[in-house]
Amino acid sequence: MKATRSLYVSVVILLLVFSTLAVKPAQQHLDVEARVNALLAKMTLEEKLGQLQQLDGEGNGTFRPEHLELARKGLLGSTLNVRGAKQVNQLQHVAVDESRLKIPILFGFDVIHGYRTIFPIPLAQASSWDPAAAERASSIAAKETYATGLRWTFAPMVDIARDPRWGRITEGAGEDPYLGSAFARAQVNGFQGPNYNTANRILACAKHYVGYGAAEGGRDYNTTEISENTLRSVYLPPFKAAVDAGVGTFMSAFNDLNGVPTSANHFTLTTILRDEWKFEGFVVSDYTAVKELINHGYAANDADAAQKSLSAGVDMEMVSRTFNQYGPTLLKEGRLSQKEIDEAVRRILRIKFRLGLFDHPFADETLEQNAFLNADSRAAAREIAAKSMVLLKNDNNTLPLNKNVSSIAVIGPLADDNRAPLGWWSGDGKEADTITPLQGLKNKVSPQTKINYAKGCEVTGDSRAAFTEAVEAANNSEVAVVFVGEAKEMVGEAASRSTLNLPGVQMDLVKAIHATGKPTVVVLVNGRPPTIGWIVDNVPAILESWMGGTESGNAIADILFGDVNPGGKLPVTFPRDVGQVPIYYNHMNTGRPPDPASRYNSKYQDLPSTPQFPFGFGLSYTRFEISNVQLSADRIPVNGSVKVTLDVKNVGHRAGDEVAQLYIRDVAASVTRPVKELKGFQRVSLQPGETKRVEFTLDPDRLSIWNSEMKFVVEPGEFKVMVGTSSEQLIEKTLTVERR
Ligand code: NOJ
Repeated sequence: MKATRSLYVSVVILLLVFSTLAVKPAQQHLDVEARVNALLAKMTLEEKLGQLQQLDGEGNGTFRPEHLELARKGLLGSTLNVRGAKQVNQLQHVAVDESRLKIPILFGFDVIHGYRTIFPIPLAQASSWDPAAAERASSIAAKETYATGLRWTFAPMVDIARDPRWGRITEGAGEDPYLGSAFARAQVNGFQGPNYNTANRILACAKHYVGYGAAEGGRDYNTTEISENTLRSVYLPPFKAAVDAGVGTFMSAFNDLNGVPTSANHFTLTTILRDEWKFEGFVVSDYTAVKELINHGYAANDADAAQKSLSAGVDMEMVSRTFNQYGPTLLKEGRLSQKEIDEAVRRILRIKFRLGLFDHPFADETLEQNAFLNADSRAAAREIAAKSMVLLKNDNNTLPLNKNVSSIAVIGPLADDNRAPLGWWSGDGKEADTITPLQGLKNKVSPQTKINYAKGCEVTGDSRAAFTEAVEAANNSEVAVVFVGEAKEMVGEAASRSTLNLPGVQMDLVKAIHATGKPTVVVLVNGRPPTIGWIVDNVPAILESWMGGTESGNAIADILFGDVNPGGKLPVTFPRDVGQVPIYYNHMNTGRPPDPASRYNSKYQDLPSTPQFPFGFGLSYTRFEISNVQLSADRIPVNGSVKVTLDVKNVGHRAGDEVAQLYIRDVAASVTRPVKELKGFQRVSLQPGETKRVEFTLDPDRLSIWNSEMKFVVEPGEFKVMVGTSSEQLIEKTLTVERR
């Protein structure tokens, strides 16, 4: 009897072992739900509210005694900025070893375009029109981040931005929802990998939900008024793409959206995100955004703010503490239900379980030694930076420069600046690790080449005292390269600008150098579209290098000397003057479309209606031709698809990359439609003389619009189908969608 029983027990144990070994993802999710529910059943109200709290660390990545105290009581769900494997483990040990229910803390940090190896700013990465490059950058960033004990990044930032005055345009993929969606997906995949419950992968966070980029006047944190149609057609798609890519978390934004702040907006947080999109992860508010509901005039006090935010669909509160402080009262008074609180806790625990945090709460403290800035990561940063740069002008083949040039004047306040290339968010990137343009050029040229460096002026301020030295450097050199743009602090959060001109006396510096008569190249180091009309009209060569990260100087040199042929394209329109803003390619036609010949259609009396450089624009050291554009059918049914094919040929003498772009226009619909909408793109590399056939598919998803009844449908009728190499250089065909 005893023997049979022990045999029975062993069989059961074996079966159990096998069944856990063989679990499939769906089963894993069921197990997670069971574990979440079991844990939830044991939690006190205080412990539940504790999970909803995220607290900031100290500036240097450490925590305070208060963190330890809360962790011990099981009242700290998450932190931001606390980092370093040792720090993380110390705090985590208290949570896991000393608290009643041993719930691990989730450690988050802003890793936007690199942790220690800094990649180009996201706007630059989008200029590569190569989502695989962004995926690679994000996966390297994830690996470095993971080594520091962090498991969560507040990225990708997927806000569409049509206003370059807004400093945070630097953090996103620009103005287009289709391109933005592709980069949202790529970054989520890069951070999270196929499964974020693995080493070297981290949880991603789509932010800032939603419409933050539409801030009135480009003033940060400002009001937004966005019709539901525009919200669904322009601002929501990259967030939806992030959900479809499996993003684990969302961050609600700071802005007021149509009268309801986004951190208390039930329509966006629950109706769309949960009910329509079936998002299963959790939403963290932006920094003190819950308490700021009071300033918005949407909540009367802290308790009101907590109630409105939580019941709208925010699960975790960043830094302010209204959920924690007022949760019990709100529950007692019936203003929040137990169900609402439990649901927020459930979502957070679900992600902690899915992340494997309960099974592996601690960081491996040995990883940090070899994780950062290794040769592969630097090489990737250099390659991606070069891929992200956009050649805006190159008259008379001024570029590339000859490596054996006898002397180069390297001029400008950003020529030897190691801060600006890191951009606004720079993780734990170090200025000392940054290759400045001057260093990059020195690394590149032959020993005979003399480099005459002169700063010329500061980025800001009005002193022209150092112009003389800069002019002399130019006079003493065969060619002058001038680095102008913006300082690190001029872009990013709370860095809106009312002008897009080069700050300080930088334009005058360019003029002074140009006046020497030396062949002059302007390299822009900046984080937003600038207005540089004089340079465009006068200087023969312009390279947009953006803020290119740790390796930016080497990447710039690669391009200036032709080791890399530039192939980036603008992900955002460059205006001629700030007065044109907002100016974006996918605008409506209006009843009186632009026509310079007519007073009534000229848009501005003092400026052309066209931008300085259009969306999708960028040159190369070689030339490409598009031909043989074909549609697989001229007429398709409403549920049909059509293939669009074209030949891209390199007709020049150097290998290079071109980005084939596909746009459509729905000619007449139940709501007005943009003059063009990007619906496909592909970056192709071509040897001289080589031709590649590129194929796109226009399926119902790409042909659909949000119609007058707010349904996403294909409306029968005529479509223009356009392909080319920028939004303004296109070959057009006609497609008819039939009603059947
Ligand atoms: C505020 C910013 O808006 C957001 O992007 C960031 O993730 C948080 N602060 C945390 O640093």
